[in-house]
Amino acid sequence: MDLHIKGKKALVMASSKGLGKAVAFELAREGVNVLICSRTEKDLQVAQAEIIEQTGGKVHYAVGDVTTSEGRTSILNKAKEVFGSTDILVTNAGGPPAGSFEDHSLEQWEAAYKLLLESTVAMIQGVLPGMKDQKWGRIITITSQAIKQPVNGLILSNSVRASLLGLVKTLSNELGQYNITVNNVLPGYTETERLIQLRGDASNWDAFTNDVPLGRVAQPEEFAAAVTFLASQRAAYITGVSLPVDGGWIKGI
Ligand SMILES: NC(=O)c1ccc[n+]([C@@H]2O[C@H](COP(=O)([O-])OP(=O)(O)OC[C@H]3O[C@@H](n4cnc5c(N)ncnc54)[C@H](OP(=O)(O)O)[C@@H]3O)[C@@H](O)[C@H]2O)c1
Repeated sequence: MDLHIKGKKALVMASSKGLGKAVAFELAREGVNVLICSRTEKDLQVAQAEIIEQTGGKVHYAVGDVTTSEGRTSILNKAKEVFGSTDILVTNAGGPPAGSFEDHSLEQWEAAYKLLLESTVAMIQGVLPGMKDQKWGRIITITSQAIKQPVNGLILSNSVRASLLGLVKTLSNELGQYNITVNNVLPGYTETERLIQLRGDASNWDAFTNDVPLGRVAQPEEFAAAVTFLASQRAAYITGVSLPVDGGWIKGI
């Protein structure tokens, strides 16, 4: 299927590794120009070189912490410099610390809000005027399967990420008139560095795969394929959805 997005310009947040990097890869394979970002320049340089080598695409990078206004400004300035206006925004960030209710101070709740919600809202604010002017845009948030079925011991993630459900649906209602779609993609257990660290020394994936009907964790490119489709012209009539890519892990209907 030709996704009809060749030549579009995409800003993918938190993308030197893991899910964000896989999304940047997949978009570049479709001929999309990508801007990747994270806090660590050497990882960005490695990711940029890999994506260019394997896709022949145009890849830029910006160093910045998405939890700070300075970091976001420098990423958005780079996007203006290399793209003019951004067609596709994929929001993403690291995950908040694990723990139960009594493990976390109010400061940790505030940090989780900054990481997951404030970073998303601020980056959308940054690219929205250009998308409205051109009457075309794709906004895709990366959240987690935990927003539909809370994971024990991840109270910060379960709680703060759930606010993205309301944001995405409301924004999709407001922005449809500008031909901007807004969707949310919920990764299940996906084999990134983060999950490999969470797995610890265990020699198998049982703790993650026991409740997954497909019986395995996802590969990052399987997640990225769903994001890339939603970013495409072929998904022009899909907006306001929260799509799990979880191998069937969420039990609700
Ligand atoms: N993998 C899974 O199974 C899974 C499942 C559900 C949800 N998620 C969520 O999906 C998100 C991505 O996970 P992942 O598995 O791809 O993680 P990962 O492999 O650890 O990659 C995280 C990426 O985000 C960047 N990053 C982290 N904090 C940042 C910040 N403050 N500003 C800018 N960039 C930042 C990292 O680079 P720097 O550290 O150099 O900045 C890195 O490029 C996380 O929120 C995670 O909780 C993952």
